Amino acid sequence: RKVVLAYSGGLDTSVIVQWLIETYGCEVIAFAADVGQKEELEGLREKAVKTGASKIYIDDLREEFARDFVFPALRANAIYEGTYLLGTSLARPLIAKRQVEIARAEGADAVCHGATGKGNDQVRFELTYMALEPNIRIISAWKDPNWHFKSREDMFDYAEKHSIPLPLTREKPYSSDRNLLHISHEGAILEDPWAEPPEDIFTISVSPEAAPDKPTYVEIDFEQGNPVALDGTRLSPATLMEKLNEIAGANGIGRVDMVENRFVGMKSRGVYETPGGTVLWAAHRALESITMDREVMLLRDSLIPKYAQLAYNGFWFAPEMEALQALIDETQKKATGTARIKLYKGNCIVVGRKSPYSLYSEDFATFEKDEVYNQMDATGFIRLNALRLRIAAMKK
Ligand code: ARG
Ligand code: SIN
Repeated sequence: RKVVLAYSGGLDTSVIVQWLIETYGCEVIAFAADVGQKEELEGLREKAVKTGASKIYIDDLREEFARDFVFPALRANAIYEGTYLLGTSLARPLIAKRQVEIARAEGADAVCHGATGKGNDQVRFELTYMALEPNIRIISAWKDPNWHFKSREDMFDYAEKHSIPLPLTREKPYSSDRNLLHISHEGAILEDPWAEPPEDIFTISVSPEAAPDKPTYVEIDFEQGNPVALDGTRLSPATLMEKLNEIAGANGIGRVDMVENRFVGMKSRGVYETPGGTVLWAAHRALESITMDREVMLLRDSLIPKYAQLAYNGFWFAPEMEALQALIDETQKKATGTARIKLYKGNCIVVGRKSPYSLYSEDFATFEKDEVYNQMDATGFIRLNALRLRIAAMKK
């Protein structure tokens, strides 16, 4: 019997390798997706094998993640509860998809993940498994009847007993998740929604206070809603994200502190660093401000909460998401052009936008004398718009 485990090398998934062997007597194939978590991947191969895995897949999924998960959400300007750019939500379906592919290739009997029974990630993993492989056997460690760990302490004791190499000390305080789009922080002191996040949790951004006193300008080129170049240099999707993360992170951009609604029902406090993504979202909207029709924009904007909810709740591979993405992409055909952004001490300020498809007309918009717009037309326009308001007022 064989199980493919979504493995990160952290406490939980390290313990799970050994627990799977002990509980189910199975061969464990570890799978780590490289979605841009950088140093966290160091030494993972050795660690997995020492921990008891028969083999490990470390697949570089960075380009696929940026191109097929982050950029589609960017084209939608997706944002959850007005604040969260969905960094973790977007990576889970990709990880789960690749895990299913490995399970097929390996002829495995089951897939396993280490997300708890209280969070969003379990839902995202399992919905994806089932959408792609309807009869797959899922071992959800934290919900398994044989799971006997009650606390992190228990898991540390178990890890020591089985000489499982552990990266961290016993008081590892936060739950973090890093990829090309963001790093999330939850748990420990952050569980008090009144407590300001301590500076030392931040990993990929400096504080606005520590950012340079001089602004940094960036120009981002888009084609049909996708970022394609940074300061005039064409870059692959993942490279562009990596470069922009560095520049924006150095200027203190993209820190967010929020209390969000989890799909399972409770509120949860999350702190996020999304430096490059924050710039891309602002730049993309700035470009749309000149290329997108007003009514199309209103319609698309009305769909942002729906899009974000589907992504957040794990319905990436669902028919309604496919339909929604098709509509979004239709709105992006003219989203080609450039936005210029000033980054300064945590602020991401749009200072310019241009496009060959611009609908902006200085001739029409100007406050100076013009030849194209007849101001008298506005008199009837306003009178007819006021008609029902006047009738109602007269009837009062
Ligand atoms: N609250 C965020 C979300 O639901 C981040 C979750 C982070 N996951 C983790 N395993 N640390 O998308
Ligand atoms: C977890 O519970 O495993 C992490 C947080 C989440 O999934 O929301």
